[in-house]
Amino acid sequence: MQIIDGKLISETIRMELKTAAGIAKGRYGKDIGLAVILVGENQASKVYVKNKISACQQLGIVSRFYQLSEMISQVELISLIDKLNVDDAISGILVQLPLPKHILEASVIDRISPDKDVDGFTLVQAGRLLKGEQSLLPCTPKGIIELLDRYNIEISGANVVILGRSNIVGKPLFHLFLQRNATVTICHTKTRNISDITLTADILVSAVGRAHFVNARMVKDGAVVIDVGINHENGKLIGDVEFDTVKEKCAYITPVPGGVGPMTIAMLMSNTIEAYRRRHENECNLNS
Ligand code: GUN
Repeated sequence: MQIIDGKLISETIRMELKTAAGIAKGRYGKDIGLAVILVGENQASKVYVKNKISACQQLGIVSRFYQLSEMISQVELISLIDKLNVDDAISGILVQLPLPKHILEASVIDRISPDKDVDGFTLVQAGRLLKGEQSLLPCTPKGIIELLDRYNIEISGANVVILGRSNIVGKPLFHLFLQRNATVTICHTKTRNISDITLTADILVSAVGRAHFVNARMVKDGAVVIDVGINHENGKLIGDVEFDTVKEKCAYITPVPGGVGPMTIAMLMSNTIEAYRRRHENECNLNS
């Protein structure tokens, strides 16, 4: 059994991206800017946002942080996004989710200019992914595929089972695996006999957000197990997978922490540089 070291891989990727960011800035002579918007005081969100901002610093990307009150209205939030959409110094806009209940998430997300949608959450980017066109991909699914590729794990032809159908992980990941010629099944709260399905998985991804959800009896010998869960138990961070028992059965497994999490941030940086490059390439083409 091999532990998939997402922390190590993400550090390698961040070094590569630092070089890529330097080259891109040299070519276009402008800073790369990422706007990060956090509404309210959700403690987990604060940690994620802090990590995203420090990744920007490491790569020489300029981050602009907006910490907004829980009480902000949807209209005010949308008017900030409108400003950032036309701000030439900003290549990427990230609105940390979840938003407070009085704000309709979809209205806010879809106000982001698709070209600056570094989370890949807008209808336009989601539609491009669905149709297999070039798009800014949601960071966690993109990070999972990148991890598998870096460990030379074959995706084509594999039976992939995804637990969880969220817009952020399950659904986009389904399309990414399908594009790579896997046979993909999504399980959710209404799925019957989940174990019968998970036992067919060459690659099993759990993104349900429930500690101890995946146990050894659900995993085929020699499977690859990717744990996207982030759960708190007795002050400890744990995934969805019972690591100690499952690791005895599988060929590869991602730990929590140190598996998928760091990859999400690396992919956000990758998307930000990509959005910057595309925008400035387009400008050059228009001016030539
Ligand atoms: N909340 C949980 N995951 C994410 C993510 O990848 N991006 C944003 N913006 N919010 C999240």
